[in-house]
Amino acid sequence: MKLIDKKILVGVTGGIAAYKTCDLVSQLVKNGADVRVIMTESAQKFIAPITFSALTGNPTSIHMFDTKENIPHIELVQNAHMLAVVPATANIIGKFANGIADDLLSSLLLAATCPIFFAPAMNINMYQNAAVQSNISRLKKMGIFIMEPDVGYLACGTSGKGRLPAPVKIFEEICNILEPKGPLCGCNVLVTAGGTREPIDPVRYIGNRSSGKMGYALAGAARKLGANVTVISTIEKPDYYLDKHIVVETAEEMYKEVLNNYAEQDIIIMAAAVADYMPINIQENKIKKTSDELIIKLKRTPDILSDLGLNKGDKILVGFAAETEELEKFAMDKLVKKNADLIIANDVSNPKIGFSSENNQVAIFDRTGCVTRSDLLPKTEIADIIINKIIDLDLFKKLKEQKGVDNHG
Ligand SMILES: Cc1cc2nc3c(=O)[nH]c(=O)nc-3n(C[C@H](O)[C@H](O)[C@H](O)COP(=O)(O)O)c2cc1C
Repeated sequence: MKLIDKKILVGVTGGIAAYKTCDLVSQLVKNGADVRVIMTESAQKFIAPITFSALTGNPTSIHMFDTKENIPHIELVQNAHMLAVVPATANIIGKFANGIADDLLSSLLLAATCPIFFAPAMNINMYQNAAVQSNISRLKKMGIFIMEPDVGYLACGTSGKGRLPAPVKIFEEICNILEPKGPLCGCNVLVTAGGTREPIDPVRYIGNRSSGKMGYALAGAARKLGANVTVISTIEKPDYYLDKHIVVETAEEMYKEVLNNYAEQDIIIMAAAVADYMPINIQENKIKKTSDELIIKLKRTPDILSDLGLNKGDKILVGFAAETEELEKFAMDKLVKKNADLIIANDVSNPKIGFSSENNQVAIFDRTGCVTRSDLLPKTEIADIIINKIIDLDLFKKLKEQKGVDNHG
């Protein structure tokens, strides 16, 4: 009974694959979930509401104005652990991506604060349509879980991408979102990402070229292995679900948010490119082009990694050293000075692995003096290597043991 105590709302829309949702709902119920189905008007053309009511033991809701709840689109979603739309038509994808709430299901989607899961299914041409693809990427950016459709025979007689995956695969995906598995399960991981911007005046700032891609790849890799992930970043949300996402702009704001969230963390990965200096005075008005030279006096920003190192305890602390020269010397110095467990060094002067590149090549230094060198790889693969290196640390084993003791009271 994997899903005992889980309240799951299943949205069914008007696609030919709606019949498969019966099997999914049955599996969710058999595994202990309290399931409530919400159908669109069109979905009823494909399957009768009574089928879902019988499978769930709960009434199936369709209409906004004739359910027993007073405010159904708010009450139904309260305390829900997930809202899963299976199958998701091009229509519901478009409506949700654009904030349209013209029936019960689309209104519920806007009111939901729980994780939302979509399993799109449609004809290949519909799926590949630029409007549908742009709506899907918008949903991903909103943190919605999107399960890729399968490639295969489609009801319209063609073959291609657009088929609803087998109910058992959807069931596993839902379980994995609700109860992530993996070595980082039960661990809180904080990742910082992006480059900070230090304002000079209302329109100008001192910044750097960091894209945040490495930080987000690390957050994704940690989440994949079951971690509860918080990201503090200067970049907007990525296209996958995060437990907590805080947007900041300056080094001082990042410092404040990292400290606010530090106590509950087990692993802290400081992948952000934080400015070392900030203007002493931020001009209230735009600086005018009056003289040939302009001198802006700078002061040191707070050193986040150093301060965390002072209160490290049993937490695992990982820093980055983006260098343009003497990479290894600076990385080892940083490891010792900041009291970090790992330093990930990369040569940002190399255009193949620079700040906004999709790829990276790193050397990972640990406290025993061991150096692990990666090949030139996509940042997502580099992230997997770094996360696995963290999992290999003795300190991680200790942390898991402590959590085991805690879990048993
Ligand atoms: C036989 C038939 C099958 C359909 N299958 C799909 C489908 O698989 N995916 C899809 O996006 N739309 C499909 N449609 C179109 C939708 O039913 C239509 O866009 C409808 O407005 C969706 O409404 P809803 O999203 O509120 O359920 C189908 C229509 C018919 C008549």
